[in-house]
Amino acid sequence: MNAHIHVLDSTERSARRGLRMTPLTRQELDPLETPAYVFDAAVVRARHAALRAALGTQLVVSLKANSLADLLSRCVLQFADGIELASIGELGTAVGRVSATRFVNNPTMDDEFLKAAAASNCVFIVDSMEQARRIAALPAARVRRRALLRLNAGVARGIARPDHFGMLTDEAVAAGTLLRAADCNVYGVHAFGGSHTFSADSLAHLGAVRGLVDELARRLGGLDFVNLGGGFAEDWEDRPHEFARYRAALAPLAERYTLAHESGRGIFARAGVFVTRVVATKQLAQRRIVACDGGMAQNFLLAATEGLMRKHRKPLVVPPPEEGTETFELQFVGSSCSRQDVIGADSAARGVPRVGDVCVFGDCGAYNSSYTVSNFLSLPAARLYLRAEPAVDA
Ligand SMILES: Cc1ncc(COP(=O)(O)O)c(C=O)c1O
Repeated sequence: MNAHIHVLDSTERSARRGLRMTPLTRQELDPLETPAYVFDAAVVRARHAALRAALGTQLVVSLKANSLADLLSRCVLQFADGIELASIGELGTAVGRVSATRFVNNPTMDDEFLKAAAASNCVFIVDSMEQARRIAALPAARVRRRALLRLNAGVARGIARPDHFGMLTDEAVAAGTLLRAADCNVYGVHAFGGSHTFSADSLAHLGAVRGLVDELARRLGGLDFVNLGGGFAEDWEDRPHEFARYRAALAPLAERYTLAHESGRGIFARAGVFVTRVVATKQLAQRRIVACDGGMAQNFLLAATEGLMRKHRKPLVVPPPEEGTETFELQFVGSSCSRQDVIGADSAARGVPRVGDVCVFGDCGAYNSSYTVSNFLSLPAARLYLRAEPAVDA
């Protein structure tokens, strides 16, 4: 008799390697005040370690994807290559918690942010000549300032609709020269090509950055660090072949420079879930509606209004509804009065959740909790929980 062979799907494989949250138990779900997010620090650390290993370079963490201070504290030892900070608020979260390199990166840094960054010995990622002038004009510091020049590889390549960040080589040379004249250590470059670009564009981006860095190094000298950005998807680990190809292409640059990448969603997305409770159900013609105590006010991204096609996710309902033979459309809606407040769907449901059941939406660890329409209708903010970890013996 043949043994039963269970083929793991990518979700199961990721969970087994610690790269994805294992389902929350009833004991974990029952006491939650909903709507809520639950983040799993062990998964964050595992994902950072795995992405770093897949790249074979340093890996900087973009705090904008998840800036929960307690989560940062639980992961900070793993984040030894540094943290990228985009606001003075994020800098406030990192100061006192992060001893690794703190990179500040925002084209619109005002004097208060620039001074706070200088005072806490951050590395400036310089977006323009104008910003270089303002950094050069900051009051003298006890420790020598450090800066990376941000390059716009998209404009240099002539891609359609490039973003507006960074400089081309002439401006970068001028900014680097000015900063060095002000005794700033300009030691490398930064070239983020955009979120979600890795799968489709990493090799072309790498080729363009290599050309730009070589030219800059020739004209400025003294550069030994290159942050290539990243654009990793939340499920990057499901396509390992992309990394093998990319690592081979990185090798010539790695011989001459210390290389880094940076990531937000690739580290945090699969390390968090959104939990909301069913407060009412009804039927409208063929459609069954499940109204929840949280929605687009606490998790705007679930409403999927930003894509060309609205594609809703199917939550895990706990306990699982009793199933009949008939299939029907189920819509999970949030607690606001907006008709856009549809946060989930199941087009072939066989059972209807009951009032009090919980709906768990996976992969909500990056951006979902912060990139949302808080204050809408004065609805309550989501509670933020960290999943308990087993105590580690001292
Ligand atoms: C400069 C920079 N680095 C990193 C990130 C993080 O992107 P992701 O979360 O897609 O990795 C962003 C996102 O906007 C960014 O602008």
